[in-house]
Amino acid sequence: MTELSISLLTEMPADDVAIERLIARTFGPGRYARTAFRLRENNPHRRDLSFTAFIGTMLVGSVRLTPIVIGALPALLLGPLTVEPPFRSHGIGRRLVERALEAAKAALAHEGAARLVLLVGDEPYYGRMGFHRVPRGQVSLPGPVDPARVLVCALDATPMDAVRGPVRKDFTRAPLQESA
Ligand SMILES: CC(C)(COP(=O)(O)OP(=O)(O)OC[C@H]1O[C@@H](n2cnc3c(N)ncnc32)[C@H](O)[C@@H]1OP(=O)(O)O)[C@@H](O)C(=O)NCCC(=O)NCCS
Repeated sequence: MTELSISLLTEMPADDVAIERLIARTFGPGRYARTAFRLRENNPHRRDLSFTAFIGTMLVGSVRLTPIVIGALPALLLGPLTVEPPFRSHGIGRRLVERALEAAKAALAHEGAARLVLLVGDEPYYGRMGFHRVPRGQVSLPGPVDPARVLVCALDATPMDAVRGPVRKDFTRAPLQESA
């Protein structure tokens, strides 16, 4: 694996256009039909918990965390996670996820809020970063989803058994990202 000089930075408003283009190129128009998109629609992500990867001045990767609720538990939805195709398999995706989880843990310590990070994705990839499949039937999402792809990572000692109920947008918390 070639070593690349990668900077991981907290997302800034100036990154929006490049991130939106990367997401559009990666997921295409079908992204609007995805169940995870429904949770993010009109539900601003936490910019302070979202990260970009740069090589020089070029944005090559992005990950975002968005407030949600699982049953009564405050949580964060991870995604989209995207890395520019020529720069894949250099560990950028993994580093972005690990950086976002680290920030979410720090936020939990300061705010006492989100205790879980949920995503819809491939267990063989995210399993290496601490995500586990939610047992079938424990949670419901606002749209169709393959239960094998509903994964969660606890930021504290919350047991998997407590990950239950409908997954919804979290409008109870003021979005902090514009002041970050
Ligand atoms: C998934 C993605 C973000 C990974 O980025 P990355 O920087 O290449 O990730 P890493 O370098 O940390 O890991 C790459 C390794 O994971 C593997 N991998 C990538 N996607 C995988 C998946 N869906 N399932 C299993 N393994 C996967 C790669 O084959 C690679 O293996 P290698 O190291 O043996 O070559 C990137 O491939 C991407 O943007 N894909 C399209 C968007 C997408 O699928 N996002 C996730 C949706 S939830």
